Amino acid sequence: MKFAEKLGMRYDNSINEHLSFDDVSLLPGRSNFEPDEADISAWITPEHMLAIPLISSPMDRVTESEMCIALAREGGLGVLHRNCPIQVEVEMAKKVKREEISGIIRDPLTVTPDTPISTVIRIMREKKISGLPVLDKSGDLVGIITNRDVIAADPDAPVSKEMTPKERLVTVIEKDILEEGKLNTTKVKKLLHMHRIEKLLVLNELKKLTGLITLKDIKRLEDSPHVSRDAEGRLLVAASISPFDHERAIRLDLVGVDILVIDIAHGMNVNAIRSVEKISKDVNAWIMYGNIATEEAAHEVITSDIDKLASLRVGLGGGSICQTTQVTGVGVTTLSATALVADAVQEYGANISVVADGGIRGSGDIAKAIGAGASAVMCGYLFSGTDEAPSEKVYIRGVPMKRYRGMASPSAIRERYAVDRYTRGTKKVAEGIEGVVSYRGSVRTLARDLAAALKAAYGYVGARNTREMWEKARYAKRTMVGVREALPHDVIPESQFQDIYDTF
Ligand code: XMP
Repeated sequence: MKFAEKLGMRYDNSINEHLSFDDVSLLPGRSNFEPDEADISAWITPEHMLAIPLISSPMDRVTESEMCIALAREGGLGVLHRNCPIQVEVEMAKKVKREEISGIIRDPLTVTPDTPISTVIRIMREKKISGLPVLDKSGDLVGIITNRDVIAADPDAPVSKEMTPKERLVTVIEKDILEEGKLNTTKVKKLLHMHRIEKLLVLNELKKLTGLITLKDIKRLEDSPHVSRDAEGRLLVAASISPFDHERAIRLDLVGVDILVIDIAHGMNVNAIRSVEKISKDVNAWIMYGNIATEEAAHEVITSDIDKLASLRVGLGGGSICQTTQVTGVGVTTLSATALVADAVQEYGANISVVADGGIRGSGDIAKAIGAGASAVMCGYLFSGTDEAPSEKVYIRGVPMKRYRGMASPSAIRERYAVDRYTRGTKKVAEGIEGVVSYRGSVRTLARDLAAALKAAYGYVGARNTREMWEKARYAKRTMVGVREALPHDVIPESQFQDIYDTF
């Protein structure tokens, strides 16, 4: 059965009813496994699997390096925004790639023995790091300087005066701590413990520095069983580009971005498709193309000459900050668009994933989107309230909030960089709003909560994995009364009378 048919749509020219997440609920199905056995992982490109099907939107209040790192550590994926000069986006991608390789930080920032302590303090503060290897002019390791060494040091003194010198350094040869290409964390922990240190310098056989291991990263590694990685073990990262920005694509590709996400509001634009065809011939990265929202658009993109087309980004007008449909009258609900595009992908038997984008408010919506043929979801709103979103936490009447805005909101348009998603030629109208969202803590907690709830959804549907979710998910259309019944009702939530409750 076609995905669109499950949602009551027909493939003819008559007017179709496009259902939204709240219009439907998933029906329970026969299950012979426990929810935590459900496998919610999904292939996002033929080479990359996400352990959790969560992708953050390329928006300047949502995804910079920190979001990508946090999501990749949980098994998801971040897409860097492009509302910045090319070099800034390139640096953000580099930062993710440098973050850690199986627990080893590659290309760690270094200083020379004559660097003033004040510079070390500034780097440590800006980059949020607590130690820097010291290399001499020929690139040989001569020491390490950590935050403990600089706390009370003279800011004008050179690093050589305060660093732990070569004779007292604890180093390790890289091949001695690797086992089948993976870091032997037990061995590393023993070394750290034996010397009572928190940083271990990694050398190659020529005694040149190849990386740095920190106790913090080891702990994190052990606590992150599902990291999204590239073939070299580095964190997976995606970055957005305009379909017309060839230079940005090449520069991001050169730093090893895994997926280039084409970021255009109306992807069924033939000029954009032709331009991406050309870009795709000059890069190694996989391509996620979007946004599209109909089966015709999917046909057009699937049959185009775009190389390494891995994924389709689907939705038009469903986003929480979105005003496109209000302003232009054009839109397709994300749930329906997902089903329509997923049907086209199936028709071609294409090895292309579908990413539902816009309007996802929680785990229930994610489950419904996957049942309609998505492999993963892209979220702006959900991640905009987290610590890792690049915006300040603000307090409104004492309640912690974070700022969030559409990339076509008035303020984003004013800061807009170069070739844009919403303004080429005559498109100058604001199609997004700006505001605040509730603060929701770390990506890690949010991602783990969503993953647990999604597994529960697979359990109810009786789907052991995403493929089974596509096959088994069935929907019921709800009435308004049904929607009300499905929310908590009649009981006054404790949070509403907390003051009174506290006095008992
Ligand atoms: P959520 O609901 O997760 O949606 O906040 C995020 C998605 O919305 C799209 N987007 C916009 N759509 N005007 C729009 O019409 C905008 O200003 C805008 N900014 C982002 C985008 O697809 C994103 O992933």
